[in-house]
Amino acid sequence: MKKKWWHKSVVYQIYPKSFKDTTGNGIGDLKGIIKKLDYLKTLGIDVIWLSPVYQSPMEDNGYDISDYQAIDPLFGDLDDMDLLIEEGNKRGIKIVMDLVVNHTSKEHKWFKESRKSKDNPYRDYYIWRDEPNDLRSTFGGSAWTYDDKTNQYYFHNFAKGQPDLNWENPVVQDEIHRMINWWLDRGIGGFRMDVIDLIGKEIDKKIVGNGPRLHPLLQEMNKQTFGNYDVLTVGETWGANPHIAELYSDPERNELSMIFQFEHMMLDWGPLGKWTPKDLDFIQLKNVLSKWQTELKRGWNSLFWNNHDLPRIVSRWGDDKVYRVESAKMLAIILHMMKGTPYIYQGEEIGMTNVKFDSLEEYNDVEIHGSYQDIVVENKYLKHNEFMQGVYQMGRDNARTPMQWNDGKEAGFTEGTPWLKLNPNYKEINVENALERNNSIFYTYQSLIQLRKNSPYSDTIVYGEYKLLLNDDENVFAYIRSDENHELLVIANFTNEEVPLNLEYEAKKIILSNYKDTSFKQSLLRPYEAIIYELK
Ligand code: GLC
Repeated sequence: MKKKWWHKSVVYQIYPKSFKDTTGNGIGDLKGIIKKLDYLKTLGIDVIWLSPVYQSPMEDNGYDISDYQAIDPLFGDLDDMDLLIEEGNKRGIKIVMDLVVNHTSKEHKWFKESRKSKDNPYRDYYIWRDEPNDLRSTFGGSAWTYDDKTNQYYFHNFAKGQPDLNWENPVVQDEIHRMINWWLDRGIGGFRMDVIDLIGKEIDKKIVGNGPRLHPLLQEMNKQTFGNYDVLTVGETWGANPHIAELYSDPERNELSMIFQFEHMMLDWGPLGKWTPKDLDFIQLKNVLSKWQTELKRGWNSLFWNNHDLPRIVSRWGDDKVYRVESAKMLAIILHMMKGTPYIYQGEEIGMTNVKFDSLEEYNDVEIHGSYQDIVVENKYLKHNEFMQGVYQMGRDNARTPMQWNDGKEAGFTEGTPWLKLNPNYKEINVENALERNNSIFYTYQSLIQLRKNSPYSDTIVYGEYKLLLNDDENVFAYIRSDENHELLVIANFTNEEVPLNLEYEAKKIILSNYKDTSFKQSLLRPYEAIIYELK
């Protein structure tokens, strides 16, 4: 495979509203990110994926864009954005922007025009029908909203305020391509492409994800825009399997650098999806992750446990109480030693946890409120308390509480009142604390990034083969990464108990572990113990 700079990169995702506020309005901003670039440099990442900072009414915190070529005043302005790109570059950090082009905000001028009349030049920018079909919105309720102005319904896969663009319209394609190039010319490092698997939809046949027009549209986009630049593109694709992933990321097909697949992230979803979680089947987790390691051959993987839509991994599959530090490090080690480009979500590197607010009203997320209306109020599938259990475990606001910088007022996030309440555990879990202790979770992430980017093992970690061991072991995740120069053994205890390690191996070196006195040959693993060895 031809080498690319992003094969070796580690990406850090910033959810700008919650990262660092410099104005005192309780909302993070671009100047705040610039202030923290040195911190990210210390961590060692080389790309930032910035969740949307465009002008937006913020119904979905910026995933509803009203002007693609303006920065929302909450976050700053274009000068701040240019400065962020420049200051990033100085530190070897590229800025990848979020590209949300499946839909706009209903406040976008295109939609305001579109709804005015059936013969408005912008009418066909969106999807209008006389009769709705039974497609449902991801955020609850029908995916169609009636507009009495023209007596038709418009389609929105997400909230009412997020009408879907009509990608069958070539004029829409041109507009978007122009906008993409405008950003690329400002010097950004690429795009994370929001729900990109939905743009090829055929609404009348009720096909939304993975529609027939998807790949031709991406090839055209690549040709007109980012294909002419050396940038990273990563598509958010919930419905992908390794075959589909090759369609997107096989370099010969000229579509995207890589995708986010979510198969592992849905393993503990129940009958009503994320709102009725079930226990994780650990063997299934090993199988799914290993399948993606071995079956995606002509393409590239991304690696992640977290993002702004997912609960905190240490609370989900680790132990956020007794073994928070051990389990957070274990999860980091297992993921970062796999093949693919790793993504770290803000706060993951200090082991931030899920949050539990007292009442539904304290939650901000449009998905939580929309789904509550649908599942509890209208359809009565769940009772209030049952739904709240789902929110505590899986709700998106778990990831969105402000970043915990120190143990001072509002965790050093803002001088004002934060837009979303902090997790009260910031007194203990915060960046300042993590930096002061040389055995903190932060330094495990730092070491993992160094291993990948700048160590004798870099090539093995980035390009080596992957082989799962102990396939049927109910407690231990073990695999080998190897190439002609090195053989690395990664082992991890996924439980909070001491477990036997039924594996013969001869270690040459202990590269990294999450306990102090790891030995060269272990027959037991302590709770959440994880080790990387170099084998003889
Ligand atoms: C993606 C985003 C999510 C957003 C949705 C609609 O899934 O990650 O945050 O709500 O798309 O834009």
